[in-house]
Amino acid sequence: MSDTKQNTRTSANTANADTKPNAAQPASEQAQSLTLILGGTGKTGRRIAERLTTLGRAVRIGSRSGEPAFDWENQATWAPALRGVTAVYVSYYPDLAVPGAPDVIRAFADLALQHGVRRLVLLSGRGEAEAQRAEQLLIDSGADWTILRCSWFNQNFSESFFLEPVLSGEVALPAGSVPEPFVDVDDIADVAVAALTDDRHIGQLYELTGPRLLTFAEAVSEIARATGREIRFVPITLEQFSAGMAAQQVPSDVIGLVSYLFGEVLDGRNAHLTDGVRRALGRAPRDFADFARDVAASGVWSARA
Ligand SMILES: NC(=O)c1ccc[n+]([C@@H]2O[C@H](COP(=O)([O-])OP(=O)(O)OC[C@H]3O[C@@H](n4cnc5c(N)ncnc54)[C@H](OP(=O)(O)O)[C@@H]3O)[C@@H](O)[C@H]2O)c1
Repeated sequence: MSDTKQNTRTSANTANADTKPNAAQPASEQAQSLTLILGGTGKTGRRIAERLTTLGRAVRIGSRSGEPAFDWENQATWAPALRGVTAVYVSYYPDLAVPGAPDVIRAFADLALQHGVRRLVLLSGRGEAEAQRAEQLLIDSGADWTILRCSWFNQNFSESFFLEPVLSGEVALPAGSVPEPFVDVDDIADVAVAALTDDRHIGQLYELTGPRLLTFAEAVSEIARATGREIRFVPITLEQFSAGMAAQQVPSDVIGLVSYLFGEVLDGRNAHLTDGVRRALGRAPRDFADFARDVAASGVWSARA
């Protein structure tokens, strides 16, 4: 599917530089809107909730700790979370790449439409067959869709599974010389907010990357430079990586998912930049060096005492 594939209901084919998050929606409609943010306590969802709240929009956090609770694994929780909702940011957990995820997304989309929701904005991943199947099912559902097909997040190094290794001073991964165009979740959140509040993004598939290709070794050395700490990148085999996760009692489905991402998806298929952030927002994406500088200044990467 192309990055520019469009929904036939779309009236404008690009949203651009002068897109303001709430420019296209009348105040009366804004007042009645309620946005459900699935994964609303996670890396993208939390930022989207903050931005929408700042804009004066009503939001409901959709997660197991939300009120009401939303659990992807318990369909009985979906309808209460959808009550009164007009738009949904759909961040699936653990990953759209896991077998069966596309069918779950389609079932959720159908239920959302039955509850009167029109707008669905899906967070997706690049180069993953199951994720692309989920995108197509969402498109086919008849919703007013926008898809954010993203590369690896910068914030995996500061808010997620790579934080502990960075703090320990050694990041050992089965990643060789294949570069990845890491994207900043603040950019993803900006695009999501635009998509949730401006009709010009309906029917747009935005492939979101950062502005630069970096190997994992280069990303780690950027973090080391920003922190002034010695942080080593150690290339290991997929087998060593899986065995290490198993020794730390990581569940086997998570090991399978991460092994798939490193062993199959990180094969060069995503090693190119896209213009998705610029197409959606009219500005360049954030560079990894700026991310590293700001996180280093926040103290999150300070070595343990
Ligand atoms: N990380 C990347 O580099 C990357 C790149 C491209 C796409 N993605 C996509 O991003 C999505 C989110 O992944 P992430 O790793 O970044 O996680 P995240 O959004 O940072 O955190 C997970 C969120 O999901 C919620 N959650 C966990 N289990 C849940 C369940 N059973 N039912 C409902 N909500 C649940 C969590 O809240 P509670 O614990 O309160 O339930 C939390 O809000 C995935 O679909 C992934 O494919 C990630």
